Amino acid sequence: MSCIALEVEHLRVILGHRHIIRNVSLTVPGGATVALVGESGSGKTMTTMAVMGLLPEGMYRTGGRIVVDGQDVDELSPEQYRQIRNKKVAVVMQNPMSSFDPILNIFQHFRETLASHADMERRAIREKAEVALDEVGFADPKATLELYPFQMSGGMLQRVMLALALIQSPPLVIADEATSDLDVMSQSRILKLLKEHCAKRHLALLIITHDLSVAASMADEIVLMKDGELVEYGRTREFFKTPQTLYAKRLLELHRGLYTDRFLKITSNLVAEATS
Ligand SMILES: Nc1ncnc2c1ncn2[C@@H]1O[C@H](COP(=O)(O)OP(=O)(O)OP(=O)(O)O)[C@@H](O)[C@H]1O
Ligand SMILES: [Mg+2]
Repeated sequence: MSCIALEVEHLRVILGHRHIIRNVSLTVPGGATVALVGESGSGKTMTTMAVMGLLPEGMYRTGGRIVVDGQDVDELSPEQYRQIRNKKVAVVMQNPMSSFDPILNIFQHFRETLASHADMERRAIREKAEVALDEVGFADPKATLELYPFQMSGGMLQRVMLALALIQSPPLVIADEATSDLDVMSQSRILKLLKEHCAKRHLALLIITHDLSVAASMADEIVLMKDGELVEYGRTREFFKTPQTLYAKRLLELHRGLYTDRFLKITSNLVAEATS
């Protein structure tokens, strides 16, 4: 395992003549959490899609370098890239329904995810899945395993996706608005669980969020994007304490105006830590 789980250098993506991503670079070391933030449409999801080699039709990467767990993806055959996606990266997507196969129940999703562990018996998979579902807050994991995706809410599916990501423990976990369908209580509990899980196993976590209080409480570093470009990239404390760009300053002002005591408490703690 490389100690840098993800390196993106000078990424460029186009759709026709339109630049979707321009010159974005970021690094996520093992054990670290990086938050990718920015307004809707700024290119956060497309950045991760480029990393996965899964850009939508008509969108192409025209430049830059992507290295996943020490492997430059441009050196891979399509089959090797698929293997990297399966084994080295777990993604919790913004739209949970699209990540599930409608004809498989939740147990079968766990079985597919653990398919590379060929020696694992059905009962062992069931036990592992039940523990993972319990961790993400399902009161009755046994019954949950029998459900089909269409029988579950968006928040339930997001939690199943998180459980599937936790069970794999790949070097890189990407969580794209992974808890946006959850209530605030479940959100903070599950994000904390994800962060602890990754830190303990030295996994890298790239979280994408609109919520700056989530970024402040989770991330070691913040990457701020706007219109497909990187606006600001720095240590979390410095980002909140001394934002460098006018755009970041404005964004923080807006959040301070909009947000609750929770946001103010988290960010003021960060600033206090940075100055102590
Ligand atoms: N499937 C698609 N086909 C064509 N263009 C797309 C597609 N998905 C996204 N885009 C375009 O790519 C740009 C970046 O979108 P992206 O989904 O990365 O934004 P985002 O930062 O993830 O936004 P959000 O916070 O709303 O999820 C946008 O201009 C969007 O219109
Ligand atoms: Mg998105």
